[in-house]
Amino acid sequence: MKTIKDINVRNKTALVRVDYNVPLENGKITSDLRIRASLPTLQYLREKGAKKIILLSHLGRPEGRDKSLSLKPVASALNDLIGNVTFIDDVSGPDVESAAKKTKNGGILLLENLRFSAGEEKNSPDYIREIIDSVNPDFYVQDGFAVVHRAHASTDAVKEYLPVYAGLLVEKEVENLSKVISHPAKPFLMIIGGSKVEDKQPLIDRFAPKADQIVVGGKIAADGYKSTHKNVYVAEDFDEDAEGHKLDTGPVSTGKIANYITDAKTIVWNGLLGKAEDPAYATSSTIVAELMGEKEDATTIICGGDTAGFVENLTAEHKSLKYSLLSTGGGAALEYLLGKKLPGLEAIEQ
Ligand code: 3PG
Repeated sequence: MKTIKDINVRNKTALVRVDYNVPLENGKITSDLRIRASLPTLQYLREKGAKKIILLSHLGRPEGRDKSLSLKPVASALNDLIGNVTFIDDVSGPDVESAAKKTKNGGILLLENLRFSAGEEKNSPDYIREIIDSVNPDFYVQDGFAVVHRAHASTDAVKEYLPVYAGLLVEKEVENLSKVISHPAKPFLMIIGGSKVEDKQPLIDRFAPKADQIVVGGKIAADGYKSTHKNVYVAEDFDEDAEGHKLDTGPVSTGKIANYITDAKTIVWNGLLGKAEDPAYATSSTIVAELMGEKEDATTIICGGDTAGFVENLTAEHKSLKYSLLSTGGGAALEYLLGKKLPGLEAIEQ
């Protein structure tokens, strides 16, 4: 996979696909993980003398133009982090053309939500062609790891018109996730939680032959999950509420998981181990996050939207916790781990 490090970007215009599909509450961004994750690529392009950086993203699943899903607040958050960012409320046409012309000296122009037009999700070549014609880029950067599992105009059709290079976030995600598939350092531990057994079973089946140990906690385990694989440990005790609902993986099981973590050299965690949005039932997830974040001798990967969000909040309070990868890709990371072909990665130059 070719990355932006393989090309000369000096005095060039980069069209960069990022994933700024951030959670919003009453118009406020509640996690800027995906915005911060895009900074290394933007900083790199600036440092290497790119003339202008035009950014593309989607936000949510709008049906037509929807003011509540405008990327304007994201532009303002990005500007606070990196400076020299402007926003234009369209993706093509004369206004976008003139905004792109005005962008100079490593300036960043964020275009409006790609999904305000059906062309994006229909993977329409004409749609991405119009965008390209308005901003005149020299090359395309795919850095929206969280959306590479979609065959959309900005992840797939774009390759018909521009050479596509991986950004540094896509490179980091793929490097870490591919290591787990092809040559994980041993012992390799996979921790599975969450609530949807149908989502997790394929992951367990695929990794049972590769992992030394898989542990299953959270709601799946509380609902009585059983496995035929010999190396799968299912949590055996739970913290309950007054009505007897099993809402957190209990101390005996968490202690066993902690021992596996101590020995492991590769750890992949997907899915919370309890109803962690309620601090009363976040104990097992917090312990696992802390133990993984303190490990210095292992590859530690957190994936899945809820799990990564939970760990990200924890790291805001405990800055010493460090992970090899706090994946920005929910569905994309899972599909990658399952060995599926991802259109947004297939489009990248080899
Ligand atoms: C995500 O949040 O998983 C990505 O941004 C993709 O969004 P989508 O599931 O709406 O395609």
